[in-house]
Amino acid sequence: MENESRGIRAIAWDEGKVVILDQTRLPSEEVYLVCTRVEEVAEAIRRLAIRGAPLLGIAAAYGVALAARGSDGGLRGRVRAAAELLRATRPTARNLFWALELMVERAEAGATAEDLRAEARRIHEEDAAACRAIGERGAELLRGVECVLTICNTGSLATGGIGTALGMIRAAHARDGRLRVIACETRPLLQGARLTMWELTRDGIPATLITDNMAGEVMRRGMVQAVVAGADRIARNGDVANKIGTYGLSVLARHHEIPFYVAAPMSTVDLDIPDGSHIRIEERNPEEVRGFGGARTAPAGAAVFNPAFDVTPGSMVTAIVTERGVVRPPYGSWGG
Ligand code: MRU
Repeated sequence: MENESRGIRAIAWDEGKVVILDQTRLPSEEVYLVCTRVEEVAEAIRRLAIRGAPLLGIAAAYGVALAARGSDGGLRGRVRAAAELLRATRPTARNLFWALELMVERAEAGATAEDLRAEARRIHEEDAAACRAIGERGAELLRGVECVLTICNTGSLATGGIGTALGMIRAAHARDGRLRVIACETRPLLQGARLTMWELTRDGIPATLITDNMAGEVMRRGMVQAVVAGADRIARNGDVANKIGTYGLSVLARHHEIPFYVAAPMSTVDLDIPDGSHIRIEERNPEEVRGFGGARTAPAGAAVFNPAFDVTPGSMVTAIVTERGVVRPPYGSWGG
């Protein structure tokens, strides 16, 4: 299935194989990984060849569908083992666990391998629809905004469709062609520089790249009128786990009286947890901070702290946009 953004295919099911655009190679090269085994999908997730919360859910679902087609043991056993493997890849994105719960439930209820492939595709298509709805609702919030600041990548390389925060940006830009974007490069792995700038350039949406430590000065100078971010997991009280740096942007936005919006599908919202203290934050390899792309920028063995995500209190978020609607503090009801 083709994502709805200038032909970007972050993931596709192709005759019994899962084809993944290797995001670690972007923006230099467009290389596709062809996975025939769930272990290959799990490895692609672990090394961030595929990433972004909604897309992780879609990849996990296709991974289970791959495993279901195997021949060793029974289908239910293969599906349970695949789900266990995929659950252990990355801990923070709710969508990954949400999709696995759905797939296992269907298998336990007697689904065939073909049913599970159809279920994965349904998850993929529903995410694309959720992105469209988020885009439309979110574009309303961006009325009158000339320039928006964003972090990480929340577009077609992170979802099954046009994106969440990037979906809002795309829909707002489509309305009158005037919206501009400032993208934080998003250290340590540069999803903003490598992926968001790649998507926005392809779309012809004017975008300016900054290093993360420039965000405060950009706001002080009045260069942006809104901040939009995605989410990996949202607690019932509106606390938002997202790419490291998001919390800092929310504090800066509050100080400068700039609205701070979060966009995510309901599959990111974890109504089972009361607040963000229950969110497990992934800590990644220190080498990601000691250098980039094989070049060392710190002494070998330098002590490093490398959380991949942070938690922004719901009270710091002006509004959360889901496919069901726009919710605001104190987040009493999530609609639908
Ligand atoms: O580590 P990543 O690249 O998977 O982190 C991604 C993010 O933090 C995104 O902002 C989030 O998953 C939302 S994507 C629509």
